[in-house]
Amino acid sequence: MHAIRTTAALLFLICLLACGAVAVAPNTEQRVAAIAADNATRPLVVYYSRTGKARLAATALKNRLGCDIAEIVSKRDIGIATITLDQMFDRDDAQEPFPHDLTRYNPVIIVSPIWFMKLSSPARTFIKHHPDLRGRDVYIITTQAVRWSGKTMQSPRPRPKKACRSEASSTSAAS
Ligand SMILES: Cc1cc2nc3c(=O)[nH]c(=O)nc-3n(C[C@H](O)[C@H](O)[C@H](O)COP(=O)(O)O)c2cc1C
Repeated sequence: MHAIRTTAALLFLICLLACGAVAVAPNTEQRVAAIAADNATRPLVVYYSRTGKARLAATALKNRLGCDIAEIVSKRDIGIATITLDQMFDRDDAQEPFPHDLTRYNPVIIVSPIWFMKLSSPARTFIKHHPDLRGRDVYIITTQAVRWSGKTMQSPRPRPKKACRSEASSTSAAS
């Protein structure tokens, strides 16, 4: 009797799992189909800038790519104290609604300043609160002031002096 009950329970469990798999499958298929049908190929440049440098870089990029551009607009008056607290405690920014439908764009290029060796809180918040970035190709470009924050950007290596001298001499010999 005990064996029959155990077998029945097992069969019931297997049926449940099978039904679950059937229920999940269409959902997964729909997602795969949505990704396959996603043929968005228009780039979008998104930027946050407090003092104008990231805006300059974003605008140059937009002009070069001939694409749309959108600003991340903070509702807060961001000063040094706010930046310090945001970066120390990973605080979120409060932002105006973003006017673009990100699913219509690919790739999405985000331009932001570095604050205290981290991506600015407005850019971090934008990424965090836009799950529709999932499935896009996302590039992050940062503006910064000093070399020691080079964890986010490789500085070009200086060319060896010797090579410069020999280049100069061959130029003068040719002329
Ligand atoms: C509070 C604060 C912290 C900063 N921290 C860094 C840093 O860690 N590393 C760096 O290279 N630049 C740092 N900067 C410089 C900015 O990243 C740089 O000036 C940036 O280009 C400013 O962009 P924006 O003009 O678009 O706001 C900091 C600037 C501020 C105001």
